[in-house]
Amino acid sequence: MDVYECIKSRRSVRSYLDKDVEEEKLNRILDSARRAPSANNKQNWKFIVVTDPDLRKRLCVAAKNQGFVAEAPVVIAACATKTDHIMTCGHPSHLVDLAIAIDHMTLAARELGLGTCWIGAFQQDEVKKILGIPQGVEVIELLPVGYPAKWPDPKPRKKLKEIVSVNGWE
Ligand SMILES: Cc1cc2nc3c(=O)[nH]c(=O)nc-3n(C[C@H](O)[C@H](O)[C@H](O)COP(=O)(O)O)c2cc1C
Repeated sequence: MDVYECIKSRRSVRSYLDKDVEEEKLNRILDSARRAPSANNKQNWKFIVVTDPDLRKRLCVAAKNQGFVAEAPVVIAACATKTDHIMTCGHPSHLVDLAIAIDHMTLAARELGLGTCWIGAFQQDEVKKILGIPQGVEVIELLPVGYPAKWPDPKPRKKLKEIVSVNGWE
């Protein structure tokens, strides 16, 4: 599957089979995050792989009881280990860096037949407590990973002409 096919066919998967993710596949997903670009190549990130069922249940509660967070055999907590760098453009680099790394993982997972779902609806302090994450580190997203019970239908997207303009704002 080429990258464009992965991009087109990726879905937010919210139901998972009771089937483990092979270590080789998980490592490939994590390696795809490792290879992501980051501002100044700082790579200020850490990815916590959560497989323990009790921890996954507690993460599910911290994620507003989104049941599939506990259902997925793996949840990756994508963390920024430094959060104070503001780029010249005025934006904090850690949010951009982590978003790229997470997206790499979603696409790598898709290529391997695995589903993922970005989870931004979670209680930061709760998740940090559950995973023993130190002060100064922030969890940017949770990412459940697993074999989909079914691939959801595609969600609508705006048309290109609605979101693109040429040589200036239109
Ligand atoms: C930053 C971010 C946070 C999200 N948080 C959640 C979430 O907490 N729970 C959830 O079910 N989906 C979450 N999503 C998934 C979006 O709802 C989903 O990407 C969007 O509806 C488009 O659907 P698709 O991913 O299947 O194309 C999140 C997506 C992004 C990018």
